[in-house]
Amino acid sequence: MQIFHLDTSLLPEKAFYIPLHRTQPLRSRIASIPTVYRLLVLVILVAALSFYGRWVYVMNAPNMGVPVKWEYHCKTHAPFNKTLYDHTPRARILVGLLTKDSTFLRRQLIRSTYLQYQPPTIIFRFILGRPQKEYLPLVAEEMRLYGDVIVLDMEENMNEGKTLEYFKWVNRSYNQTNGEYARLDYVVKADDDSMINLWNLERALRVLPRKGAYWGCKYSILNSDYVGKSFMGGECYGLSSDLVHWIATDPLPSAYPSGHEDSQVHRWLRWGHQNATYIAENCYIFDGPQANSVYSRPYGKTPSSIPGQERETIVVHGLKTEEDFLEAGRWILPSAADANRNASLVNQSM
Ligand SMILES: *[C@@H]1O[C@H](CO)[C@@H](O)[C@H](O)[C@H]1NC(C)=O
Ligand SMILES: *[C@@H]1O[C@H](CO)[C@@H](O)[C@H](O)[C@H]1NC(C)=O
Ligand SMILES: *[C@@H]1O[C@H](CO)[C@@H](O)[C@H](O)[C@H]1NC(C)=O
Ligand SMILES: *[C@@H]1O[C@H](CO)[C@@H](O)[C@H](O)[C@H]1NC(C)=O
Ligand SMILES: *[C@@H]1O[C@H](CO)[C@@H](O)[C@H](O)[C@H]1NC(C)=O
Repeated sequence: MQIFHLDTSLLPEKAFYIPLHRTQPLRSRIASIPTVYRLLVLVILVAALSFYGRWVYVMNAPNMGVPVKWEYHCKTHAPFNKTLYDHTPRARILVGLLTKDSTFLRRQLIRSTYLQYQPPTIIFRFILGRPQKEYLPLVAEEMRLYGDVIVLDMEENMNEGKTLEYFKWVNRSYNQTNGEYARLDYVVKADDDSMINLWNLERALRVLPRKGAYWGCKYSILNSDYVGKSFMGGECYGLSSDLVHWIATDPLPSAYPSGHEDSQVHRWLRWGHQNATYIAENCYIFDGPQANSVYSRPYGKTPSSIPGQERETIVVHGLKTEEDFLEAGRWILPSAADANRNASLVNQSM
């Protein structure tokens, strides 16, 4: 049986087809295409290009260009499981704050604010790359004085693999000889423009699954799994230690160490088919009002055991100036919350 036979004698004389043999010059071949077809192709091309441009724009816009409705996050946030919390031992957490040699004053500010409120099962470390020559004596002195600085043996950077080196250092250091911390439950990565309430951080992580947990402020379209599942913002995200061990030892992350340090973590997990549960804490992690970003929110709006307070807030991010940093602390650190409450009680009674 003949399956494919084109009888050209059946084609109408003026049928439009491009001859297969290349005898006609290109220009005359194009000229032989009816104008309406040429216009159609042009329209399709322009449409495709503008769609592509729009797509690139949306993909690169913060939160894919969709303003964050934080009220939505707070309304849909799963209620806190107090029974589970009360019956679970404190989570052992390592918090690594990725920072650099020159920002000594910011580290001091952190030491004198939120590091004053630290649950006993949290270890906190500042993670630096190799200091520049002029900072060597200062960093050495800082290490001696505070014992909370780790220098990774790599050039200082943000998106060129520092996060991977940090996880590798964790995997090496928290081993059988490391006493109580031979096994960490969670490893957290944080930034130095974040104010963190470490008690609330432990409270949030304690009730998470101990395996396959990827926790943080999820950057994606609301309630959607658009583009994979999106990723946890770099201001403060946490991974259960099994995922950290996988990242540190599997060849895949090591083959792709660079990329925006926060979204790269999501890519590793996705490319490596890790069974990670994405846990969004978007109600209790937000940008300060001064940051003026799509994640910004005024203080006093987060649902709280004390209305108008920020009692349950875990992280406020985008705090570039010392004033902004201290203001965030005034809202979310324990004693500050008490003082605010007292102030508002005074106001109410006046
Ligand atoms: C809270 O945790 C307890 C203990 O794990 C569990 O039995 C219970 O179902 C949980 N409650 C909710 C509402 O998830
Ligand atoms: C285990 O951890 C300790 C302390 O963090 C470190 O000194 C030691 O080199 C580590 N052991 C291995 C085999 O990496
Ligand atoms: C590092 O990760 C590997 C792979 O999961 C694990 O077997 C090992 O125990 C980890 N090392 C430490 C020190 O935890
Ligand atoms: C993935 O993780 C979930 C939650 O921890 C678990 O219920 C499920 O069985 C896991 N699936 C696989 C294929 O490991
Ligand atoms: C707030 O008031 C209570 C008594 O109403 C007092 O015990 C507490 O010390 C006050 N806290 C601050 C920070 O002033």
